[in-house]
Amino acid sequence: MLDHKGFDLWADGYDLAVGLSDEDNTYPFAGYKEILGRIFRIITEKPNAVVLDIGFGTGTLTAKLYESGCVIYGQDFSPKMIELASAKMPNAHLYQGDFSKGLSERLRYQHYDYIIATYSLHHLTDGQKTAFLRELMEHLNAGGKILIGDVAFETRAELNKCRQAVGDEWDNEEVYFVIDELRRVFPGLCFEKVSYCAGILTLSR
Ligand SMILES: C[S@@+](CC[C@H](N)C(=O)[O-])C[C@H]1O[C@@H](n2cnc3c(N)ncnc32)[C@H](O)[C@@H]1O
Repeated sequence: MLDHKGFDLWADGYDLAVGLSDEDNTYPFAGYKEILGRIFRIITEKPNAVVLDIGFGTGTLTAKLYESGCVIYGQDFSPKMIELASAKMPNAHLYQGDFSKGLSERLRYQHYDYIIATYSLHHLTDGQKTAFLRELMEHLNAGGKILIGDVAFETRAELNKCRQAVGDEWDNEEVYFVIDELRRVFPGLCFEKVSYCAGILTLSR
């Protein structure tokens, strides 16, 4: 599992690496831009939405939301990612914090219209994901939504099929969403498949 130093090292080359994987339609980023685009369109339907981004990285999506008038909060544990994102969003409220330990202190006293997490929560175990999502649900405004874009599969059988096809490229340190398993904990979970290995998960309050 990459720690924050690993992400610091990856930060400068991150956007390029993701773009190439998406354009080639290869695991793990096949569908990346489409996913970010769909989440952007959902959020910008609400003028000046208050958005919390969990694991915002270089701020690819968050900066677009910021430019569209959203009020941006965020949590990431990589100082280098925070530096790159802050340069794009000088007035955003970006805090350093390890989300395996929950929300940062500074973000706990606020409610949000949307909480987004793109390609970040697969760094948590399934148990950690459940606990964190329960915590995040408590921070949604009425009518608010958690929107997660990530590597995800409807069933464990579909995940295993992709793992076999990908072979040595499969990242054994990442823990991907299996929708029918997570739905046992969150029966209202919606899933929109976007590519053969990724999609958008929605939890509503
Ligand atoms: C693959 S990048 C995704 C960045 C961005 N959301 C995107 O869609 O391009 C994952 C991000 O999550 C952050 N991250 C990973 N594990 C984390 C943790 N335990 N706590 C806080 N941030 C974490 C990394 O620093 C990195 O910025």
